[in-house]
Amino acid sequence: LFSAVEMAPRDPILGLNEAFNADTRPTKVNLGVGVYYNEEGRIPLLRAVQEAEKARLAANSPRGYLPIEGIAAYDTAVQKMLFGDGSALIAEGRVVTTQALGGTGALKIGADFLKRLLPDAVVAISDPSWENHRALFQSAGFPVQNYRYYEAASHGVNRAGMLEDLRALPPRSIVVLHACCHNPTGVDLDIVDWKAILEVLREREHVPFLDIAYQGFGDGIEQDAEAVRLFAESGLEFFVSSSFSKSFSLYGERVGALSIVTSSKDEAARVLSQVKRVIRTNYSNPPTHGASIVSSVLNSPELRAMWETELGEMRERIRSMRLAMVEQLATLGAKRDFGFVARQRGMFSYSGLSADQVERLRNEFGIYAVSTGRICVAALNNHNIGSVTQAIAQVL
Ligand code: LMR
Repeated sequence: LFSAVEMAPRDPILGLNEAFNADTRPTKVNLGVGVYYNEEGRIPLLRAVQEAEKARLAANSPRGYLPIEGIAAYDTAVQKMLFGDGSALIAEGRVVTTQALGGTGALKIGADFLKRLLPDAVVAISDPSWENHRALFQSAGFPVQNYRYYEAASHGVNRAGMLEDLRALPPRSIVVLHACCHNPTGVDLDIVDWKAILEVLREREHVPFLDIAYQGFGDGIEQDAEAVRLFAESGLEFFVSSSFSKSFSLYGERVGALSIVTSSKDEAARVLSQVKRVIRTNYSNPPTHGASIVSSVLNSPELRAMWETELGEMRERIRSMRLAMVEQLATLGAKRDFGFVARQRGMFSYSGLSADQVERLRNEFGIYAVSTGRICVAALNNHNIGSVTQAIAQVL
């Protein structure tokens, strides 16, 4: 049965964790996976999460099956985060939200549902995109293409190229867009870009799929939802995959959601019934713990305020690491201007390092980054940044 099974390559991101864990050098640094580490180099357990967990433990709550679509109070809280408290879409009952196994799980449910709706569609992802986008939509049976996005020379967006590629896609293509904190580049679109994209999508009847895994890591919770809010006002139907892995530091709990904006309450009910079939045949229903913690925090004014402060602290610490990196590389006389790192948003920086340079960082210095040159700035701290910038200056 298994004699012809070939060895699959390591996952380009999570595979790095395996190599990092096996590395015995005490000075090793993991800038590969998108995880926030605090100043002590630890994944924080947020205070708001600790409080909610204490209350949950004290309540001795039973662990029965959740509804297929997850915890109702959680789904509603997700909608408010994405579309705003006073959203007309929510009031009109036009949004379907289901709890999902992280942002990846949300993308997968959405992809499987879309395959039933548009079996012959093409999926378009940005060039570059999160490594798993392509694999995920391909495994749902779609051909996946790139649209131009990042422009290396300016460390910015190739606006004209992007719009041209979106226009050239077959009508009714599925277009995956990073709503904020673009992964892997950290280079975001501004509101003028979003408006231009929206018009092309409308013209070509494409289906927007907004992926928002880093809400709150760019400029703030509300600010980072700007693109989602613009789409909400547009009258278009669209998909949103969202995640609390990063913003609640609950990576292993797999807390995400899929939201689908429909045209009417009646349509929403029918769409929900179909999405529930997709979930039921994949994993039946979602797990209880992570979503109940997030729901408790988001629905309690005190815990929510505590969480927003902690999220703000994470965002600011990442920003200070960006600035320190730029400054230190300049002081070390690095052969390139790294000023662009300070302008990027979220956890990542597309550093411009080549695959060879990334390999040297790993082999010679025990510093792990994705081979495309993506580094996780959220893993830097005042203890490791000096050795990281020195190593970068050396491999350049
Ligand atoms: C990343 O891009 O590193 C994260 O989103 C983690 C993952 O699942 O790849």
